[in-house]
Amino acid sequence: MIIPTTEYCRKLFKEYNTPQKIVDHCEAVNRVGVGLAELVNPVPNVDMISGLCLVHDAFKHWVLRNMVSDLHEVEVAARIVACQFHDFAQVIRQVGSTRNPIYLDGPFEVKLAHYVDWRVQEDRVIPFQDRLDYLQRTYFQGNEAEWQARLAAERALEEEVFRNCSITPDELDKL
Ligand SMILES: [Fe+2]
Repeated sequence: MIIPTTEYCRKLFKEYNTPQKIVDHCEAVNRVGVGLAELVNPVPNVDMISGLCLVHDAFKHWVLRNMVSDLHEVEVAARIVACQFHDFAQVIRQVGSTRNPIYLDGPFEVKLAHYVDWRVQEDRVIPFQDRLDYLQRTYFQGNEAEWQARLAAERALEEEVFRNCSITPDELDKL
């Protein structure tokens, strides 16, 4: 699979006028994601993780600006890179979203990128529990059974990411 370089991904920020705040977030997710990936044994596809981390939110603002609310930013990213990186576009689609958690069935690289995205708020690492509490309040209010199932799936994903890793989830902020 041909994966876009970090230079290609960063050029997309400029071409599509990604706001600096979103660029900072994507760069922070990339830094932590790549740092974590390199501590996993065997080392996963770090280039793929880097590409996912850099483009995952790159078109968030583009979606708002162009009022294409029926298209998620991940789908926009997939379509934009698809002409040059067809197979990688399919991997981007597997990132899904909070409401469409297809990453749960994705490859390890997608799971790691998703996990790190949830652990990075703006450009700093936050405790997993803080993000889970926020998501419960925002998306699962009054739907306890659905939340408990999702919580178990997210905790299992965290366990999978750190199973063969030399740091613990609590050490993520050291990266
Ligand atoms: Fe994000």
